Amino acid sequence: MVGIKIDGKKIAQSVKDRVKKAVETLKAQNINPCLATVLVGDNPASATYVKNKHKACEEVGIITKDHKLASNITQTELNEIIDNLNKDNSVHGILVQLPLPDQLNEFVTTSRISPLKDVDGLTPYNVGLLAMKKAALVACTPSGIMEMFDYYDINLQGKNVVLINRSNLVGKPLYHLLLERNATVITCHSKTKNLVELCQMADIIITAVGNRSKFTLTPEMIKQGAIVIDVAILRHEEKLVGDSDYDKIIKKASFATPVPGGVGPMTVAMLLKNTITAASLNSQLG
Ligand code: GUN
Repeated sequence: MVGIKIDGKKIAQSVKDRVKKAVETLKAQNINPCLATVLVGDNPASATYVKNKHKACEEVGIITKDHKLASNITQTELNEIIDNLNKDNSVHGILVQLPLPDQLNEFVTTSRISPLKDVDGLTPYNVGLLAMKKAALVACTPSGIMEMFDYYDINLQGKNVVLINRSNLVGKPLYHLLLERNATVITCHSKTKNLVELCQMADIIITAVGNRSKFTLTPEMIKQGAIVIDVAILRHEEKLVGDSDYDKIIKKASFATPVPGGVGPMTVAMLLKNTITAASLNSQLG
């Protein structure tokens, strides 16, 4: 039996269609949703991600403001740019593309963003709200994964979910979102001892390692009918792949995400959704 492909492109398009309508409604109220992006340095992958985010904004009618900064910018200079974007009433969402060069501190930078404009859900305020089931702005990749479960009516209650990632952008927000749906969540990482056994007992595996020489999720490591969400994207043997080989995994899984065309498009779609949420929040509370 072959499992069902979780079609990230199709689900992302359905999110974008809804966002486009919401943008029109906001514009009718004289609110022009605007996302400011900040890209520091010349990391080619980050530049591509930001370019894709701009293109997606354009598709749904969200205005973008592009800030490309030199790789040697100081923390003080970056803080000042964020402060100005916080004050700018025409800007509703602020996204600082990560990772940052070594001289810049990720926590200091993301904490500086106004929680009302925090479309990545990374400020301590929004992370706290998420832990208390009150979040309006949640990190895009985790909320995109939840959207995928909902699209296929996948009930999470009582499911054993193994997360293979503990980052602020993926693993930690997912932990809270899954717990809210009554899943039993195990968060694994590089020091986890019995990863293979944990994977083998999981109903759902969400993996985001991104280094094939350290970790590859093979069919032997999943149980028959498991659901596999592969967040990673990396170049391996001349191909773009995730932590698993989709063609092999789908023969044993009940559902799985391909790479590319799985989680990636959802991250961008949820950024658009967060931007219109931020535009509404700013107009009500800003
Ligand atoms: N780098 C990789 N993924 C992300 C993301 O979702 N947001 C930001 N700001 N940077 C990233």
